[in-house]
Amino acid sequence: MPITTCVFDAYGTLFDVTAAARQAAAEPGREALAATWQKLANDWRLKQLQYTWLRALADAHTDFWEVTQNGLDYALEANGLDGDTELRERLLALYWELAAYPEVPAMLAALKAQGMNNAILSNGSPAMLDGAVQSAGIGEVLDAVLSVQDVGIFKPHATVYDLVAKRFGTTPDQVLFVSSNCWDACAAAGRGFRVAWVNRSAEPMDRLPWQPDIVLDDLTTIPAFAKGA
Ligand code: LAC
Repeated sequence: MPITTCVFDAYGTLFDVTAAARQAAAEPGREALAATWQKLANDWRLKQLQYTWLRALADAHTDFWEVTQNGLDYALEANGLDGDTELRERLLALYWELAAYPEVPAMLAALKAQGMNNAILSNGSPAMLDGAVQSAGIGEVLDAVLSVQDVGIFKPHATVYDLVAKRFGTTPDQVLFVSSNCWDACAAAGRGFRVAWVNRSAEPMDRLPWQPDIVLDDLTTIPAFAKGA
């Protein structure tokens, strides 16, 4: 079946989750953060994701904003920055306006020109996703922003991926799912989607029962792949 619908993970895929720490580190008076911002960004992201998986397993769902704050608090302490409440507030504010990767607007516009439906499917709360979409200026080239909030459990629970068929009436093989999170890409493949894993930092493939159809360095070739797939 030809692809009719392109569905993107949000954080790390369309929006650069390291941008908040990188941007804050470049601000005057942030020497302590500048020395460790990459590790802080990695710790923050890893803990944020671990908390989503743990909460899903423990049947203790909460808003993605809460696990984002919990992950940051862990990361600040792990990097000796937990006394800096002003820095905490600054990093959280920046998370609401994360930069999109540079190729994102043109890539989504090209898909729309091909007649695709474009959507986000994310752990993010509707309010967080709205903030990121507005700040990146990509609302016009998206047909839907789907949040796990509608099913009350985080990825990679199967019901999250089933939101796509509910919204668009698609069969899984009509959907191209795109994620920079390998575990998310693999889980989507497990639900029968066509899948592209965007592996910007040349990480090894996760050892899971499913694999993406293609591995890409960035998002620029997604329109060509969607057309030919
Ligand atoms: C999301 C996380 C997994 O946007 O990046 O769902």
